[in-house]
Order: sequence, then structure tokens, then C-alpha cells
Amino acid sequence: MRLYYVLDSRINLRITCGQLCKQLNLGIEIVIPQSLTADRQIINPRLDMLPDYPFERVRGLLDHLPAPGNLEPVALSLGEPQHPYPDFVGEILHANRHLYGKYPPVAGTPDFRRAVADWLNRRYDLPDGMVRADDHIAPCAGTREALFRTAFLAVPPKKAGKQPVVLMPNPFYQCYAGAAVAAGAEPIFVNTLAENGFLPDFAGLDEGILARTALVYFCTPGNPQGAVADLAYLEALVALSRQYDFTLVVDECYAEIYNGDPPPGTLQACAGDGDLSGVLVFHSLSKRSNVAGLRSGFVAGDGELITLFRRLSEYGGSPTPLPVFAAATALWQDEEHVVANRALYREKFDLAERILSNRFGFYRPDGGFFLWLDVGNGEAATRELWTQAAIRVLPGSYLTAEDGIGDNPGDRYIRVAMVHDYAVMEDALARIAQTL
Ligand SMILES: Cc1ncc(COP(=O)(O)O)c(C=O)c1O
Repeated sequence: MRLYYVLDSRINLRITCGQLCKQLNLGIEIVIPQSLTADRQIINPRLDMLPDYPFERVRGLLDHLPAPGNLEPVALSLGEPQHPYPDFVGEILHANRHLYGKYPPVAGTPDFRRAVADWLNRRYDLPDGMVRADDHIAPCAGTREALFRTAFLAVPPKKAGKQPVVLMPNPFYQCYAGAAVAAGAEPIFVNTLAENGFLPDFAGLDEGILARTALVYFCTPGNPQGAVADLAYLEALVALSRQYDFTLVVDECYAEIYNGDPPPGTLQACAGDGDLSGVLVFHSLSKRSNVAGLRSGFVAGDGELITLFRRLSEYGGSPTPLPVFAAATALWQDEEHVVANRALYREKFDLAERILSNRFGFYRPDGGFFLWLDVGNGEAATRELWTQAAIRVLPGSYLTAEDGIGDNPGDRYIRVAMVHDYAVMEDALARIAQTL
């Protein structure tokens, strides 16, 4: 008998695969990725703490199960926008193709930095001179790697004489946990539940944990629940970062996809005294402009941290090609496609509201492009949707860690990425409503 190894949602991140094998002394062949076994001498044993990435786990859950042959499969598991991106992207890349032969500058081009600074100032109405193109902005090749790398500049060997802590919401973008673990910190997951508006209460944590906190990852609008932190929440979080002297990383990559008013940004929360110390915000073109494959984003904030970030980039970063900088510059200068993009998402959330409202705890998220549906058992619903409706979604528990008392706040949920066009989503949402 062959048992495919899928990390159970109730298994805590702290249980290594080696321990798991010993616990499962069942006399059956367990197929697990070799590199994750404790038997093999991997160089950094901390990486054993990381379960397979959620998309790998979905493949493990579904790939061996047949989907109905008469239905076109639809992948709603991946947050990869399928809306068109502006034609000028291709034109600019083509016009600048002679620059692919050059190593690009790690700090980006002056035009790129200026376009980003102008966008930040416009979007968040920042005080003059608070965010300066050359001092407070660094480009990145998509934000995932940059978020990950930030842990290496923000996590010291010890904080308050002990192992440092990295805090993050639960559910969380998986990169945060990977970064915390790889940088030698203890990841602590702070539940974001419906009853607290899906916002983590970092300030309510134990004093001992806050004293050890070196870095906080926070995301607004959040993935997957789409909660938007208001300015008061962000100001309190900035104040907490100063009180406990930790780096505050706010992932704002969904900032331009929203339902009502534009979500406030963390730089606005610093505008009172203009002090950016300890604060970094991350923005990406992947969601704003539908160019996930272009790999372009930026980090902005504390000048000293930006200098360190660039220094780390010099050693181990992946610089953005010059033609990409040219296209990215034009994208940050253009709002028309962003407005049109947002309108497409709004139409699809209207649709979801019509098809799903009053079911699965449906609510219309303030931002982002996910539905977070309470289906009772997320893994079972994911299997059912695949085998009966050829729809792939993500079980909520693949984005969450157990809380301290053994419950997993994602168990009941599925995440549905509203990334396809209207017609595909209309068909897919109807299939979800019929199946569950
Ligand atoms: C919350 C969150 N942050 C960051 C990213 C990374 O996006 P990118 O690396 O394309 O900029 C994603 C991508 O899905 C995300 O969902």
C-alpha cells in the first residue's frame, strides 16, 4: 500500500517529518520527499520545521483523485491574477530589449525610484520629503523573496537574551513563516478570527513574547481574509513596534484591490511625526497590474533598513532586468489600468454575493481578491469540489498553523481566488454552490 504523505493540518509546524515517520509505524510505504526526512543530513535542520508549501499539499491531496471528465477544470487555488495587463508593458519590454545584456543596478533606475516615490506620495498623500526616492525605496524582484530576505536583516541572534520571535497573523502568507524559521527565530502565529474582524491582536500578547519580538509581519488588505486595517490600527501597531523595538514589515501587495474606500497605508501611520524608523512596507505589481511573471515590486520605509536591504541585495539578491524596470516605471505612473482592474474585481464580488450570500459564512471582503468560506471541513470540501465539480480550491488549514491549544483556525475554511474572468467565475461559483 502506498500512502502519500500530506502534512495533516493538525500537525504542528514544530513536528519534524522524521518524528512523523516514527509516529506512523504502520508497516506501509510512506512516500515523502527525501529532502525532508530527518535521516538525510540536510545542512540546516531548521528547514525540517517547514511543511510542504500549500500548493504542493493541494497536489498531494488531489492529484490522485479523478475530476469529472465532462467539466473544464478551474484552478481557484492560486492567487495568480488572470486579468489582462496593459499593452504598453510588452511594447516597453521590446523597445528596451537591447538592455538585457547589461547587469542591472541593485538600487534600481532613478526613473523607477522616482515613479515609486511619486506613486506613494499621491496614493497616501504623504508629507513632502518624508519618503524620498533615493533614500527610502528599494526595488525587488517581486515581494516574496524580499519579504523573506528581510528576516535576515531584522532578526538578531538574540533578543532580550533569548531566541528572537517573529510574529505573524494566522492564517499567514507562507513566506513569513519560512523566513522566520530560516533566520533562526521562533515563529508565533496570532489568530485572526471573524470575531476580531480578522485582524491580529499583537498588543494583547504576553509581555515576555513582545520583549523577544524582533520582527512582525502583517498584511493589509490581508490574504486570505481581505481584512483592511484602519489608520488607528496601523498607528497603534507602529507605536507598538517602537515600544518593543521590533521591525514592522507590512505587506501591502493587495492595497489597490478594494471594495469601498482605498485602504490606508502604514506610511500614513508614520506621517504624524514623519518618523519611518523600524517600518518597511512592501508593494508589488503582481496583483495591482496583473504582471505576476514580471517579478517587480518595491520596499519602502526606514532609510537605514533600506540601506541594509540594498546591501543584502548586493550579496544575494536577484536584480530586476533593465527592460523590466522601464515597464515597471510606466506601470507605477499609470492609474487607468488599476481603476479598470478594480472594477473587474468588484463585478465579480457582486456576482459572488448573488450566488453565495447567506451560505458558507459569505462576506464581501474589504480588500484583496479571495473568498474565505466557512464550509465546515476545508479539506473534505476541497476533495469534494475537485471530484464532483473539477474546481480546485485551497483548504484553509494549509494557510494556518495550530494555535497553542491544538485547534487550527483554518480547518473549517476554503480559500477561493477570484482571479479568472467573469464568465469563468460565474460558472465556477455556481458549481461551488451546487456541490457543497
Ligand atoms: C500576501 C502576499 N504577499 C506577497 C505576495 C508575493 O507576491 P509577489 O512576489 O508576486 O510580489 C503574495 C503573492 O501571492 C501574497 O499573497
